[in-house]
Amino acid sequence: MEPVTLTTTRLELSAPRESDIDEIYEACQDADTQRYTTVPSPYARAHAEEFVPRVAAQWAEGVHLTWAMREGPDLAGMIGLYRLDGTGAGEIGYWVSPWSRRRGLLVEAARRVIDWGFSAEGTGLQRIEWRAVVGNVGSARAARALGFRYEGLLRAGLPSKQGRDDGWIAGLLADDDRTPQAWPIL
Ligand SMILES: CC(C)(COP(=O)(O)OP(=O)(O)OC[C@H]1O[C@@H](n2cnc3c(N)ncnc32)[C@H](O)[C@@H]1OP(=O)(O)O)[C@@H](O)C(=O)NCCC(=O)NCCS
Repeated sequence: MEPVTLTTTRLELSAPRESDIDEIYEACQDADTQRYTTVPSPYARAHAEEFVPRVAAQWAEGVHLTWAMREGPDLAGMIGLYRLDGTGAGEIGYWVSPWSRRRGLLVEAARRVIDWGFSAEGTGLQRIEWRAVVGNVGSARAARALGFRYEGLLRAGLPSKQGRDDGWIAGLLADDDRTPQAWPIL
């Protein structure tokens, strides 16, 4: 698949490029990003240098699709649809640069990515899954705001740098009402 560019009110979402490497490296120094996502820890500049061409190859394969979130000249974060195995399901993943947090940018970007993911012009998904390490309240609140429904606890369900972590899982179906639902863990 060719990389797709999406826009929102404040953001452009487009494939990461070489000129992003310094900001990716900087953003990935964040302790929460290292704890709660699959980025390496410690995070070296070489990891950012490898990430950009890897994402380009993944777009070509069409299984993991990653967009850089751009607010003007600033790299606001990364967001993606992952594990698109062709059966109509995928998983959302994201991190926001520490300097861009708590301004609703993640929810704004994710709404656009989810709409595209469910659409026939996009990947035509029926279900998008969200998984997070238990205790990642910021990510859970974001997923709830997007309309995801809490589905349960995955005991030792997520591979992590420490071994395995308990995980929370939530899901959103293409025809779900996106009005935020109550989550028992929040
Ligand atoms: C989680 C994360 C993506 C949120 O990004 P953001 O742009 O700050 O989120 P938004 O401003 O769009 O906020 C979305 C919701 O989350 C809430 N939120 C965001 N960060 C929060 C935090 N640290 N603690 C509590 N709530 C938080 C907001 O209040 C908002 O909730 P509301 O709509 O109920 O008021 C960001 O903190 C991050 O990158 N964390 C580290 C990486 C990570 O955890 N990735 C997800 C792995 S599953």
